[in-house]
Amino acid sequence: MKPLSLIIVEDSLDDTLLILHELKRGGFKVEHLRVETSEELSHAMAKREWDLIICDHNLPEFNAPAALEIIKSCDIDIPFIIVSNMIGEEVAVEAMRAGAHDYILKNNLARLVPVVRRALFDANVRLERKKAEQALQESEARFRRLADNAQDLIYRIKLHPSRSFEYVSPSSLKIIGYTPEEHYADPELAFRIVHPEDKEILESMSKGKTKFAKPLVIRWVHKSGSTVWVEQRNVPLHDDSGKLVAIEGIARDITDRVINEQKLKTSHAQIEALSNRILEAMEEERARLSRELHDELGQALTAVKLDLQLLQDTLNFEKNEDDTLKQSINLVDYTIDIVRRQSVSLRPPVLDDLGLIPALENMIKGFNKRTGIDMGLINNGLPSRLPGHLETALYRCIQESLTNIARHAKAENAFVKIKNNNRKIFVSVIDDGVGFEPDKLTVSSEHIGLTGIQERIRLLGGRFKVESAPERGTKILIIVPWKLNVRGALTG
Ligand SMILES: Nc1ncnc2c1ncn2[C@@H]1O[C@H](COP(=O)(O)OP(=O)(O)OP(=O)(O)O)[C@@H](O)[C@H]1O
Ligand SMILES: [Mg+2]
Repeated sequence: MKPLSLIIVEDSLDDTLLILHELKRGGFKVEHLRVETSEELSHAMAKREWDLIICDHNLPEFNAPAALEIIKSCDIDIPFIIVSNMIGEEVAVEAMRAGAHDYILKNNLARLVPVVRRALFDANVRLERKKAEQALQESEARFRRLADNAQDLIYRIKLHPSRSFEYVSPSSLKIIGYTPEEHYADPELAFRIVHPEDKEILESMSKGKTKFAKPLVIRWVHKSGSTVWVEQRNVPLHDDSGKLVAIEGIARDITDRVINEQKLKTSHAQIEALSNRILEAMEEERARLSRELHDELGQALTAVKLDLQLLQDTLNFEKNEDDTLKQSINLVDYTIDIVRRQSVSLRPPVLDDLGLIPALENMIKGFNKRTGIDMGLINNGLPSRLPGHLETALYRCIQESLTNIARHAKAENAFVKIKNNNRKIFVSVIDDGVGFEPDKLTVSSEHIGLTGIQERIRLLGGRFKVESAPERGTKILIIVPWKLNVRGALTG
């Protein structure tokens, strides 16, 4: 056990020995210093730390109140016990008020040990409490420093009995233009500078009516008048009865992010509108070319053919002249056929006249004839007509998929499957060809077929997927939303 270090302020050697004897009897190991004057006490206190002071009340040149003054001036919390012969009640009370922890009469030294134990225990409790308070202050100061220097706005608002800010970090000045002091002075400031459209949500949060788990994105009106977007994470604090009494939170300025997102959204919408317009214009141009090829060129060629036939019938040509005329008629026939086919492939009239399925049947018939690949069509419940833009888009996507099979797949079999559940149309184009690795496709201006399909389907609000692997064939999947409305009309 560590010995008890003790100052005894005492002029009598006998009394000192009595006190030491009593303490040793009580089980204490003691190392002591006896002092008689204020100088000696001051010197002793300055020299080292002590556990306890036992002080006679009246010495020839010194007394307990003067000793207490010295202790006070040293700003040291040390148990101080008066052990004295003659001490009146009033003097004792006065000494206690001045800082003595207890007093004992010399003729009652039996009390000394319990009083010392009690005084040491109390001193220890005071020391521990002081240490805890210091630790708390330090950790508060640490968090305060963090909060004070944070870029985000950190706050704590008390809601009961009335609203007031208990803490607002200095970053409030940068983020919303108001200082913490302005918030402390005006508890309603936050509720006045919130954007009018977000006031309700802020009020309902302060009443605990919103979910705290999700971050809250709201707008504030900066002192300069500009709109500030912040993302707030709030933590509700409840009292024992479960009542919401305070909210702590962090608000992050996300104005730049929101502005960029808005710009991005606008440019996406612009690109979408442009893509739509390009596809429409392309389709219109194809239809115009198709008509012109068919009507103008087709008819002109037919007229040439008829004229040539008339010449052949009415004039008597030599054999080789007649042969040349026949060749010319055949050439015109052949050209008429090419013009007709080009006209149909640009914009098949059957798509406009009869709808998607007949147009696909024609496309597949031509495909089988040209490629020798056995291509089939399975239709499950597609109505005879769909909205025009949907028919065109699906026709073009399937046309590109078939072209890809003809050009790349080396397939033997393939088929187009269409399914409809009145909310969505599912199209798959499947072949058993060489396949490829879709993930390895890079964006390039030489390969725009699949990207074109993807874009058309995206504009329809649908989904597009390619499933393929080397030697495993290819499956193109398209899903587009549409529905039959109550009157049975079609919408895309
Ligand atoms: N059914 C298929 N079987 C095998 N490979 C395919 C198939 N479909 C597409 N591919 C592969 O994917 C690539 C990209 O196809 P995409 O249609 O985008 O471009 P492309 O056909 O090469 O050129 P275009 O721009 O004229 O369509 C093709 O070059 C080919 O390698
Ligand atoms: Mg292609």
